[in-house]
Amino acid sequence: MRVAISTGGGDAPGLNAVIRAAVLSAVDRGWHVLGIRKGYAGLLGDDDTVPLGRDDVRGIGHLGGTILRTTNRGNPFSYPVKQADGSFVEVDRSDELIENARNLGINAVIAIGGDGSLRIAQRLWEKGLRVVGVPKTIDNDVSGTVTTFGFDTAVTTAMDAIDKLHTTAESHDRVIVVEVMGRHAGFIALYAGLAGAAHVILIPEIPYDVQKVSDAIMAREQRGRHFDVVVVAEGAVPSGGEESIIGASLPGQDRRVGGVGERVAYEIEKRTGKECRTIVLGHLQRGGMPTGYDRLLATRFGGAAVEAVEAGKWGQMVALHSPHIVTIPIEEALRTPRRVDPNHDIVRTARHTGISFGD
Ligand code: F6P
Repeated sequence: MRVAISTGGGDAPGLNAVIRAAVLSAVDRGWHVLGIRKGYAGLLGDDDTVPLGRDDVRGIGHLGGTILRTTNRGNPFSYPVKQADGSFVEVDRSDELIENARNLGINAVIAIGGDGSLRIAQRLWEKGLRVVGVPKTIDNDVSGTVTTFGFDTAVTTAMDAIDKLHTTAESHDRVIVVEVMGRHAGFIALYAGLAGAAHVILIPEIPYDVQKVSDAIMAREQRGRHFDVVVVAEGAVPSGGEESIIGASLPGQDRRVGGVGERVAYEIEKRTGKECRTIVLGHLQRGGMPTGYDRLLATRFGGAAVEAVEAGKWGQMVALHSPHIVTIPIEEALRTPRRVDPNHDIVRTARHTGISFGD
């Protein structure tokens, strides 16, 4: 058996732990492992593949990032190819990829990725490449699994930042708006906001009215609380409005969400007269060492992915159905993206502890 591993889309803490566990589990079975570098670029001549053995994965389980590197601009079905005049056209290179995998003697691919990469994995499987998926994302927006690795680390990083911002906000009687990642899902904002005792949490699933946010801030003011920490998910939307998009995306890339923190801070300052500051946590949430929870989940996913390859569970992905790791069709996980349920107990508890969602 010669199994290849790819990491696609944005990195997430825990990727190296998956790679390590998958390589060690495969080698333990006497298999050969190849790492595909930079998403699928390593199978398309834009990068290469590397053999992975015990020595190559030694001491990487606790490290952030991915030793294979990654990209969110490498969809083989719409691969950006530069033209002579500098412009890009998107070309379907999936047949070439499958052919190259066959020539390298690859019998199966373990594709580690978020919704975008899992969709690519599903399409490659439909074209005949034997694929097993491993869900990854700090956003926690993949359905079919209780959670993904990377999410707990991102929440911990955001919560640490919120803890620190409390003290400086309080010292200056300021409103500090913290913009966190999550794309179209509000999980990081909700979990980190509640764990860090923010005063306002704005998430895409509950459109906000900035006047209501300002009213909540002024109500605290009247209670003698002169500072506020407002956590805003980058994909939060004002009611009746649109999400904020920053600049242009590069060829082959999704639209970049962000900028809403600055917008919210400006509006709050205008309405309340209170001094506001904004901080965008951005890629800090994706970097650094995975938490113990994420390391363990990632390691279990890596081991389970090799078991799935052994059992020939093609087109399936590993998933956490606590307390077990199971496999489910990738297609099933992709059917509906996971979003925060506005009636979830976490939201209800947040409201009862006095947090405003601006609705
Ligand atoms: O999907 C993970 C994520 O970190 C999102 O939360 C964020 O919107 C996006 O990726 C940022 O991607 P990039 O690496 O292109 O800045």
